Amino acid sequence: MLRSLLALTALVVLTAPAAAAGPSPRSSERLDGGWRFHRGDPPGVDGRLDYDVRPEVERSADGRVADARPDEAIRLRADRPVLKPWILPTGNRFIADPGRRHRRPGGEPDVGDVPFLHADFDDSQWQAVTLPHDWAIAGPFIAEGPYGGMGRLPSWGVGWYRRALDIAASDAGRRIHLDLDGAMSYATVWLNGRLVGGWPYGYSSWRLDLTPHVAFGARNQLAIRLDNPPESARWYPGGGLYRDVWLTRTAPVHVAQWGTTVTTPEVSADSATVHLAVAVDNTTDAPVRVQVETGFFELDDAGRPRGEPVARIPPIGFDIVAGGSTKATSRARIAHPRLWGPPPTQRPNLYLAVTRVRQDGREIDRYETRFGIREVRWDPDRGVVVNGEHIVLKGVNQHHDLGALGAAFNVRAAERQLEILRGMGANAIRLAHNPPDPQLLELTDRMGFLVIDEIFDSWEKKKTPLDFHLVFPEWHEPDLRAMLRRDRNHPSVILWSVGNEVGEQYDGEAGAAIGRRLVQIVREEDPTRPATASMNWAKADMPFPAAFDVVNLNYQGEGIRQEPEFEGIERIRTPPSYPAFREAFPDKVVFGSETASALSTRGTYLFPVTPLQSAPVRDHNGGGDSRNLLVSAYELHAVDFGSSADKVFAALDRHPYVAGEFVWNGFDYLGEPTPYYAARSSYSGMIDLAGFPKDRYYLYQARWRPELPMAHILPHWNWPGREGQVTPVHVFTSGDEAELFLNGVSQGRKKKGPFEYRLRWDEVVYAPGELHVRVWRGGREWTEARVKTTGAPARLALEADRTAIGNDGRDLSFVTLRVLDAEGQPVRNAGNRVRFEVEGPAELVATDNGDPRDLTAFPSPARDAFSGLALAIVRGVPGKSGNAIVRASGEGLAAAELGLQIGAVE
Ligand code: GAL
Repeated sequence: MLRSLLALTALVVLTAPAAAAGPSPRSSERLDGGWRFHRGDPPGVDGRLDYDVRPEVERSADGRVADARPDEAIRLRADRPVLKPWILPTGNRFIADPGRRHRRPGGEPDVGDVPFLHADFDDSQWQAVTLPHDWAIAGPFIAEGPYGGMGRLPSWGVGWYRRALDIAASDAGRRIHLDLDGAMSYATVWLNGRLVGGWPYGYSSWRLDLTPHVAFGARNQLAIRLDNPPESARWYPGGGLYRDVWLTRTAPVHVAQWGTTVTTPEVSADSATVHLAVAVDNTTDAPVRVQVETGFFELDDAGRPRGEPVARIPPIGFDIVAGGSTKATSRARIAHPRLWGPPPTQRPNLYLAVTRVRQDGREIDRYETRFGIREVRWDPDRGVVVNGEHIVLKGVNQHHDLGALGAAFNVRAAERQLEILRGMGANAIRLAHNPPDPQLLELTDRMGFLVIDEIFDSWEKKKTPLDFHLVFPEWHEPDLRAMLRRDRNHPSVILWSVGNEVGEQYDGEAGAAIGRRLVQIVREEDPTRPATASMNWAKADMPFPAAFDVVNLNYQGEGIRQEPEFEGIERIRTPPSYPAFREAFPDKVVFGSETASALSTRGTYLFPVTPLQSAPVRDHNGGGDSRNLLVSAYELHAVDFGSSADKVFAALDRHPYVAGEFVWNGFDYLGEPTPYYAARSSYSGMIDLAGFPKDRYYLYQARWRPELPMAHILPHWNWPGREGQVTPVHVFTSGDEAELFLNGVSQGRKKKGPFEYRLRWDEVVYAPGELHVRVWRGGREWTEARVKTTGAPARLALEADRTAIGNDGRDLSFVTLRVLDAEGQPVRNAGNRVRFEVEGPAELVATDNGDPRDLTAFPSPARDAFSGLALAIVRGVPGKSGNAIVRASGEGLAAAELGLQIGAVE
């Protein structure tokens, strides 16, 4: 395929206007509608559709502590026919050594007669679905059994999708590609009964060339089988075609998949040099000569190209051999570039490169590449320097699920998450532990987040019995190269991570060798960004960390299990290790890629409150209530190997060369509900699964947005029965000194000491009434806050993040329900049963309340409020416009109503 590789260079400074725009010879059709879906195989398949044989699962990994040492590598040899030999060639384009590429076996695999593959199979009884579709998110939850790790939702097993593809006779001679942004998992794709290819790893994006199997001028039958192994993840993976699927038509000579690479090697306020490499594929059996030219446009805030191009690369001609691919490299200079950088001090400006390919004067392809101009320097003494400005990493880890929407990607839901994170002051995210939907990186580009793009949670050694380790030997290269090629033009991506806490950390030189091989792949695809892998175990003097450009520590920086209670236990115990890594790697940037793993249940306060700054979750220390699956939100407790936010802040402040942190984690996610595996979702988010901030959110806001005058009081002040009992009050504030009053009586004025990040009045004796805090900063009045004892729940209130939404079937309104008392005060401990109804051109997609224990299926219109709140996610009915009404009611409560306008999106 890639028979020739040629580099051409030209330096041009531009002036001429862009060529006149006409319809592009390339078309991309999103295949969202028209699908039929079915769980399970037809009878008689007998394993013949399996990608490979799988080991027997002898022991569940459910509930295993996250930092348990990964087990041995397991490799099996299939003793019966499997589909693997037919699937492996799909990855060939991403295998550099031609000798290691896979040859498709002759003929067709013997799978017997599978009715689902027949064009005339009647699938009218199958469920009609629209993509993106997560087959497991609607539930029901599985309450019993060892399923907590994967979120208690039925994500594993087989699922089939079928869809007709009408391909016009006029398309004959074009290439027809199927582009899958992600399919969970072990996908095999069949067209008109013939196996085209597939891809095991559910988080990768991949392409199939359907052309040889297409009937032009006819209806074609597409069938996609997915096969999610049980025990294949430490979190909820989702299932099915959970990201977009595209039908892309091109000329036989066209820009390759992810065929452009933009870099900006020289950046200053006056000028930027933009390097552009364009790979063009020739799928014909004759050599061709093409001309390639590119215009560069500024993009406005809405992402639209503005006016004339600001630079151009004039046509460069080159030859491509039959069946080959040629890469042309050129550069341009952009004067006074509008740089991309993170807010609030910089702006995330973007550009668009429009590349045209001509053959004999005729435009045969037009390809658009969005990019940004920025310079990122890694300074071991300070950290990350973007366009000359030192940016402290205020990061969070993010899983791929979107709460009640599951794994099915939704741009608005992801944007909302980023907005909430931005409100806290976060400027960076780590994509734990897999490549995201490609649209997420469009959001981070547009919003100016710094991103660690990460590919694997395991290499050869397993964390769960059927995870990625089973395919690592054959697929690590295609998966890694696919991520790098897909994502390398995103200015928001600053660092590649090739692994998280992998078992190979424990393997000395052998583990480091695998790390070096992965880093080498990164270099080949992107010499401009560093590579890393996150380490919770490997120490500074071991071979493993030396394999990477940047030192990413999980929990080690603050020290792991240093408290006396952990003495003698057979788990990771590590003293605070930033200094050791700094000393061993004085030329490398060091930061915390996972910090904290603090735990809490929103709005839940347990007593007594520990006097410590950081403690594990135990029933006896005020951290947990294992009977009721609750963790205290005084925000002082963490997983055994983690630390409270306060303790992490102190560690960072003591070691100012540390570039910052990525907190575990931003939003609660489905699965991994440490410490209570009977629950559905995690306790580690600063924000709950529904998107409601926990108290911890304000602890980070106080540190990350020091200029915002804010103070947050906890707990709530509704404690009938606690009268006369000690009920500590803590205040999270960007101020440095405060006086607390209970019913007008001062409880004392306190000042933050060195390495203190909260103000705590631990002796307050509860009496109903009002808490009032007055806050100073630098001796000046800064802000104040109040919390009152409320009356009983009396009415409901609804508030939407957006009251006017589009009717494209994707846009969403997130409606927050609050339980109020008769005076209109939010009742922060209310748990009333509520019911949502939607009338007019909108529909209820899902509800939630952020309670990790709530096993009510997400689509349910009825739900208990939790700590005073519930959430309804509403979507416009596709194509319909007008006013919709969201109603909420609950027994004994005055109902609430909210109007939404549904209409066409621009
Ligand atoms: C880490 C791990 C994360 C998550 C976290 C939970 O060790 O890298 O994926 O499991 O622990 O505390």
